[in-house]
Amino acid sequence: MSLKYAVIGDPVEKSLSPEMHKAGFRAVGLDAVYHRIQVPAEELAQKIITLKKDHYDGWNVTYPLKERIIPFLNRITPAASSIGAVNTVKVTDDALEGHNTDGEGFIESLSARGFSVAGKKVTILGAGGAAKAIAVALAGRQAEILILNRTEDKARQLAGKVSSLGGTAGWGKLEAGSWLENSELVIQTTSIGMRGESFPIKLQGLNPSALVADLIYRPAETAFLAEAGSFGNKTMNGLDMLIYQGALAWKYWFGISAPILEMRKALSVITGN
Ligand code: ATR
Repeated sequence: MSLKYAVIGDPVEKSLSPEMHKAGFRAVGLDAVYHRIQVPAEELAQKIITLKKDHYDGWNVTYPLKERIIPFLNRITPAASSIGAVNTVKVTDDALEGHNTDGEGFIESLSARGFSVAGKKVTILGAGGAAKAIAVALAGRQAEILILNRTEDKARQLAGKVSSLGGTAGWGKLEAGSWLENSELVIQTTSIGMRGESFPIKLQGLNPSALVADLIYRPAETAFLAEAGSFGNKTMNGLDMLIYQGALAWKYWFGISAPILEMRKALSVITGN
């Protein structure tokens, strides 16, 4: 019998996880299927019973279920617990195990380009779910973190979380400042730019050797990334984070390395990246 996986969320039609994982299954000859299952938040409890009854071996979790799914799981990893969100579930002997591979996936996407975060000055723009996953992953890696957010209090709370995990983080308002010249890595985690909007901060004075990342991959280049690129900075969009968070799920599900190249190829065709 084929192994069964899925992505659950609402909306879920635009998720690229099915194409990515199916390309991976094909590449390594894995007998597995991957479905897209729309699960409105209020139906989560019932749908989890159905997923178990239908013998799903695991699933990915997307908006708006990443936090909501936690009470239904039998155990979650320390990272997922710190982040307060789960993006990957593995079914083992009928128990549901929750992981969060978003932050680690991002770190791996940096490593794959030869960028190590240890000891680096890292500025995170935004303090939502994605920022949280990345900040928690950075906390244990000796990075010097600065979190800037429109709602300053959320930045303060996230910096507190980093400190409680033994990391170093400051916080502030989302505005221009000395961080521009000091940062060695800038990570844009807000939703600004998804609809072609310009970014509220001008990047004048940006450290020319800083790596600039935007978690958005549709469009492939936001106005934010385009501006950083125009200064000659190295840039990366969020496609690699998507790939590497998916690849980490393979480690939990199958205990093998995912075929990154084939998975990227499938996504490149769809997204034009
Ligand atoms: P995600 O899980 O994708 O990170 P989220 O948890 O809803 O999404 O977080 C969205 C982030 O984008 C937040 O940091 C939000 O700032 P606030 O905490 O102040 O809401 C930020 N954001 C969204 N739209 C923004 C805008 N127009 N200007 C500044 N920040 C914005």
